[in-house]
Amino acid sequence: MAPEPDPASMTHLPLALKYRPATFADVISQEHVTRTLSNALARGRTAHAYLFAGPRGSGKTTTARLLAKALNCDRGVSGEPCGECDNCLSIAAGRSLDVIEIDAASNRGIDDIKELREAVKYAPAQGRFKVYIVDEVHQLSKDAFNALLKTLEEPPRGVVFVLATTEPHKILATILSRCQRFDFRPIPLEAIRGRLASIAEREGIRLDERAEFAIAKKADGSLRDALSLLDQVVAFGGDSIDLATLRRLIGVPDEERYLELTEVLATGDAAAAMRFVRELREAGYDLESFYAGLLEHLRDCLLFAVGDGERWAEVPERYHGAYASTAETLGAEGLLRMLTLATEEEQAFRRSSQQDLVLEVLLVRLALLDRTVDLDRALQTLGAQAGGSRAARSPAPRPAPRSSAPRAGAAGEPARDAAAEPAPRPRGTSGSGPAAGPLTLESLLAAWDEVVEEVLAARPTVAASLKEARPSACRDDGVTLTLPPQAEWKLEQLSARGMLDPLAAVLARRWGFHGRIRVEPGGGSEPAVAPAAVVPPRRERPTSREIEAGAIDARLQGDPLLRQVVDLFDASVVRVRPSS
Ligand SMILES: Nc1ncnc2c1ncn2[C@@H]1O[C@H](COP(=O)(O)OP(=O)(O)OP(=O)(O)O)[C@@H](O)[C@H]1O
Ligand SMILES: [Mg+2]
Ligand SMILES: [Zn+2]
Repeated sequence: MAPEPDPASMTHLPLALKYRPATFADVISQEHVTRTLSNALARGRTAHAYLFAGPRGSGKTTTARLLAKALNCDRGVSGEPCGECDNCLSIAAGRSLDVIEIDAASNRGIDDIKELREAVKYAPAQGRFKVYIVDEVHQLSKDAFNALLKTLEEPPRGVVFVLATTEPHKILATILSRCQRFDFRPIPLEAIRGRLASIAEREGIRLDERAEFAIAKKADGSLRDALSLLDQVVAFGGDSIDLATLRRLIGVPDEERYLELTEVLATGDAAAAMRFVRELREAGYDLESFYAGLLEHLRDCLLFAVGDGERWAEVPERYHGAYASTAETLGAEGLLRMLTLATEEEQAFRRSSQQDLVLEVLLVRLALLDRTVDLDRALQTLGAQAGGSRAARSPAPRPAPRSSAPRAGAAGEPARDAAAEPAPRPRGTSGSGPAAGPLTLESLLAAWDEVVEEVLAARPTVAASLKEARPSACRDDGVTLTLPPQAEWKLEQLSARGMLDPLAAVLARRWGFHGRIRVEPGGGSEPAVAPAAVVPPRRERPTSREIEAGAIDARLQGDPLLRQVVDLFDASVVRVRPSS
């Protein structure tokens, strides 16, 4: 129940109270309930007992009070209470003698209900109806339930019961059958976000769209929780809240963090996955919220992978491209396996006294999970072997800073098939030592994967973003990197101060380059034209549908290298990723 506002703090009335809807029309996302009630009121056909079932903070108590107001409004019973008469005002303030709110959680015994049964006999004091609102009714003891049932069986005239519960399955069928039931829905993320936006505006709080999303997501269907979070955030940050502070405060890492993580996982780089946990901890994130967010993120990716367009609204639009490309890279089965593993480990994680360790192990397992990823990498390793340069035969674990296989789809670039790549790329021994000649676009493009790899050691999350960028121009005074459309949201990250320092260091070391580095959005166009020499020829790869149709065999036939890999690992080809 809403606490009585303390007069001393009246100026800081909690937002959830301040913005408690005063009319049915103001109750959001429960139209199926409010419309029916409003119609019944207008026609004078209300029931004696209602059951309001639904998740916390979704408007049950609010709607029950509105019903009480409408039944007792001085201006007569109609579809909406006037909200201004004595009865409406005293009910809204919780002062009415005719509206009795009982918290079943603290009055769960038979005596309480017996008392209620006595009281029920007396006529309303001020209005036409006495309205009993029994909150958390599922908590009543069995005897109390039975006593309540007697009252419901022969309700005295002028009495209306509203039983509210978050756990309707715990309510006896005999009670259920006496009530008209309404199921309140968890409030959809988008509706919470909209409400937050309008309340923030009325309160003069500056809140950007992503902050609204972060709060709405955390509130998980409860508008009350959303408004309490907003209270907290304002108390901490004042009227203007920057996103980083907000996320820290409510303990929610942002979508971008998770997208970075899925990218790291997609590269199969176990070392980077471990570094990720360390970075999280150092940034002060709460690992439990992180874990919960991880499950949600994987699920969101899966929604994109299976094309559940309706639910995409749960992801801010600016990230849709990134989610779609992550989904494509990891694939539905891959994501499903990841989600399954993460879900299985959740209990162990929660119980553990060394959560960072458990999380680290989980991320490493996730990074190594997808065998199709391993195949890509193995192909590359073998490709290098075939070229006679690398001798390492054992494919895993991969020594830390090695270039990972470029992945189709992830970067919006043409898939580059390392195995089929004839041109030996300038592989500096782990990239040390300056390359010959001045920095040119051509040399930068050719060495880009290695450059990114070197940044990876210093700043994994930056490297993950750079991996998506392509050098598009190179002059004496500066280098320009272009982000493909689906990665444009990274512009902000990469443009932040100091983010490109590790990259600058690499360029300086390799080419003695000391100019500026700019990052720009690529717009709708393909990344800048690369000289033909450095873009390896694309090989025809079958689409997944072709594979389903049995094209795997054909692929194996025509690809001795792939056969070799399959033999080597005693593996089978599950899927071959289409090349763009
Ligand atoms: N559907 C809604 N429309 C508008 N505001 C809502 C809605 N649901 C909740 N709120 C806001 O959240 C506050 C709490 O809602 P309410 O007390 O009605 O939730 P409840 O469903 O009774 O939750 P609980 O199960 O925890 O008792 C309200 O004062 C209001 O500010
Ligand atoms: Mg309630
Ligand atoms: Zn009124």
